Amino acid sequence: MKWVTGISAALAVAAMPLATANAQQAETPDSATVAAGKEIYEGRGMCVSCHGRNGEGILGPTTRLDADKKWLHHDGSLEAIIAVIKAGIDDEKSSSGIVMPPRGGSRITDEQVRQVAAYVQQVLHRRKNAQ
Ligand code: HEC
Repeated sequence: MKWVTGISAALAVAAMPLATANAQQAETPDSATVAAGKEIYEGRGMCVSCHGRNGEGILGPTTRLDADKKWLHHDGSLEAIIAVIKAGIDDEKSSSGIVMPPRGGSRITDEQVRQVAAYVQQVLHRRKNAQ
């Protein structure tokens, strides 16, 4: 009996790094998702018109999405960014008084929201723009 317990404990330890790797994969979007997100951002999502091609922020500093931007409306996780894009930012929540319509006023699907959120998180928010 003791022997069996020893084996299953060893198995549990061996399986742990695998489980961790899977959890990270679920959080980090793959490159195809990010590439699709770029298309949405610059195309039918209309994000580019207020946020700029490089996330430099067309409507003032609160609309920056680049590396110099400290997030105001979410904690930077993919799920939180998705929630903000879906809900938009009304004038009560807006820190500048400028509102963001839900989904940027576009009709992108939930899947496309996920893709564009991945692009914001993985690419734009890592980009340093000249000031
Ligand atoms: C009509 C203009 C407009 C469009 C279109 C728009 N946004 Fe926004 N967005 C804003 C404004 C304004 C804010 C910041 C509000 C404030 O001042 O607090 C914002 C904030 C955000 C934030 C939160 C930033 C933070 O600091 O937490 C994210 C993420 C975001 N937008 C993503 C998107 C994406 C992705 C799209 C396209 C689907 C999009 N936006 C389309 C105006 C827009």
